[in-house]
Amino acid sequence: MTESTRPESGSRVLVTGVAGMLGSHVAEVLLARGDRVVGLDNFLTGRRATIDRLRLDARFEFVEADAADGSTVSGDLDGVLHLASPASPLHFRTMPLEILRVGQRRHVGHAGARRTA
Ligand SMILES: NC(=O)c1ccc[n+]([C@@H]2O[C@H](COP(=O)([O-])OP(=O)(O)OC[C@H]3O[C@@H](n4cnc5c(N)ncnc54)[C@H](O)[C@@H]3O)[C@@H](O)[C@H]2O)c1
Repeated sequence: MTESTRPESGSRVLVTGVAGMLGSHVAEVLLARGDRVVGLDNFLTGRRATIDRLRLDARFEFVEADAADGSTVSGDLDGVLHLASPASPLHFRTMPLEILRVGQRRHVGHAGARRTA
């Protein structure tokens, strides 16, 4: 995301893959700077315990869904950070179709987004 496309603090941002390594940390940073975060994950490789600390923040909403299924998160969004994907070299061998699918499909949130990044 470049400076010009980065949502301002106080934005409502969708983070897919929020139970994963990058997604959970990105969500934490966004909440710390005052954003509202809609986290989405289907726990394909992520763990439920990873989002426990995020759930303590009232500005965090969680949606359990497949990011590749084309559904839409309700409400306006200022940005989408699409980090949902199996990511380890092991997954490249065991989940190649899941990786292609979530990487290719127009992912959740776009239909309701005011601006995407
Ligand atoms: N970790 C790194 O160092 C690194 C570096 C560069 C790029 N990336 C990329 O960033 C992305 C995230 O990497 P990561 O290390 O956080 O991976 P991760 O496996 O820790 O997290 C991925 C998360 O996405 C979720 N997920 C997978 N498919 C999904 C789907 N269809 N719908 C909803 N949720 C789904 C998983 O359950 C998991 O919580 C990947 O695309 C990866 O290639 C990672």
